[in-house]
Amino acid sequence: MDIEIGEVGSAGLLPESLLVDLPEIDAQHEEIFNRIESLKSACFESTLTPIDEFESLLAYFAFHFATEERLADAVGLDFVDHARIHAETLALLRKALDELIRSGRDAHSFLRYCEYWFERHISEDDRLSFGVLSSADLDPVSGLTQGPGPFCSAQA
Ligand SMILES: [Fe+2]
Repeated sequence: MDIEIGEVGSAGLLPESLLVDLPEIDAQHEEIFNRIESLKSACFESTLTPIDEFESLLAYFAFHFATEERLADAVGLDFVDHARIHAETLALLRKALDELIRSGRDAHSFLRYCEYWFERHISEDDRLSFGVLSSADLDPVSGLTQGPGPFCSAQA
């Protein structure tokens, strides 16, 4: 499955309150909201549920969580509780999607839940975890710290 990494453009849809000020993370957050929006439109316009696109959304959530965990690891953030939230959410969404596939119903509920959960997660968890960083702390290519800073371990 191809996963495209979007860029946050000047026409970015994320409100200020949902920005974490790390371009890679903000771009992925926006991509997830875009995918949810387009699935809502697809489901509204048709009685068919595009299961492949729902699977793709779930895969993108997993890809995005792995990105956050990689960046947190690179700068030595304590991310254990946050990563646990990611793992629990992925399991919950997997279960809900399996139920959706089995029943063929509640696609809108699934999408509303994704959107609600994700917005809350960004504003309450991501901004808290990443608020101590800025893009100046990370190398734009490698995602690693530019140099020893307060978030690096001695061995990093
Ligand atoms: Fe997160």
